[in-house]
Amino acid sequence: MNIMLRVGINGYGTIGRRVAYAVSLQDDMKVSGIIKTKPDYISKAASKEFNIYVPDKASEKKFDEAGIKIKGDLGKLIEDSEVIVDCTPEGRGKENIRIYQDRKIKAVFQGGEDADIAESSFNAYSNFNESVGKSYVRVVSCNTTGLARTISPINDLLGVRRVNATLIRRATDQNDSTKGPINSVEPSLKFPSHHSPDLKTVLHVPEVETVAIKVPTTLMHVHVVELTLGRQGKAEDAVSAWMQRKRVFVLSGKDGRSSTAQIMDMAREIGRNRSDLYEIAVWKESVNASGDKLRYVQAVHQESDVVPENVDAIRAMFQLLPQADSVEKTDRSMKISGSVI
Ligand SMILES: NC(=O)c1ccc[n+]([C@@H]2O[C@H](COP(=O)([O-])OP(=O)(O)OC[C@H]3O[C@@H](n4cnc5c(N)ncnc54)[C@H](OP(=O)(O)O)[C@@H]3O)[C@@H](O)[C@H]2O)c1
Repeated sequence: MNIMLRVGINGYGTIGRRVAYAVSLQDDMKVSGIIKTKPDYISKAASKEFNIYVPDKASEKKFDEAGIKIKGDLGKLIEDSEVIVDCTPEGRGKENIRIYQDRKIKAVFQGGEDADIAESSFNAYSNFNESVGKSYVRVVSCNTTGLARTISPINDLLGVRRVNATLIRRATDQNDSTKGPINSVEPSLKFPSHHSPDLKTVLHVPEVETVAIKVPTTLMHVHVVELTLGRQGKAEDAVSAWMQRKRVFVLSGKDGRSSTAQIMDMAREIGRNRSDLYEIAVWKESVNASGDKLRYVQAVHQESDVVPENVDAIRAMFQLLPQADSVEKTDRSMKISGSVI
């Protein structure tokens, strides 16, 4: 008999919705329920697919009034689950972990939490094994996941001594009209930006320098990356290493994909769920090798790149499958295909 691991999703916003969808595609785990605080259109749509829970008893009345059936509160979701994926707004995890520890349930946190909330930080390519058997794991942020995804294969092939990366960050997500900037460019005023220590939690390279600049767009982040290599290599070597990994999408700007708007349009065109692009898109023309340096430009769909990592993190924690098998299974179920067109 196939035993399905019961996964509760605490927080059903940009990330929680997508993690719930990804878990629902697996044949070794299922969604026991999701938590929302507001009985809005997202809750109404979710109630057709998932059991709905609320953070506490006090929230039940407003869901009743909106005609949305509630299965219980966070305590009940914990009772009905074997692991919680915490997708609540950043910073809330440090309060929630006390509840999970008291109730002795494993939990996956997201990149908005500090690294020390968990026993390990997670990226499926660079350090899957560090989370095997752990109870509390943090999937790193969308930017850090984007960097780890493309740097890890190069580190395996040629060694990476130093990372220099400029991160051009989207201002906010598409459904959030409360944040900005809407007409300015906001650099982080600290060197390195917080992405540098974050990347080191999942990718063990000696030196990482990052700078981040927020710009008025909601679609994707763009990273300009320069790696100092352990051994010299050609641009073709890097491209071929990425093409062997399905979570990296090497594409050409020549056939109409020279901007983040067009890459997102491609995701719609190929029928991706919610128009997501789980893969990191690397522009082939930007890949340049010279001496011990490798340079490239990549685009990161912030709403979805971390989603397959959440599924793999659960498998690592419960030792359901080894790294390669888990990644392969997740990719197959989510139709993550790398450079298909
Ligand atoms: N957005 C991204 O691009 C991105 C990328 C990678 C990682 N992350 C990280 O993922 C985490 C979640 O971010 P997000 O962007 O998905 O946030 P979000 O869109 O704001 O969603 C947060 C969700 O948590 C729910 N919530 C709010 N307060 C809650 C509470 N007290 N208890 C339980 N649920 C509560 C909200 O429900 P209601 O809507 O009903 O209030 C909403 O469903 C953060 O750590 C973030 O840093 C975000």
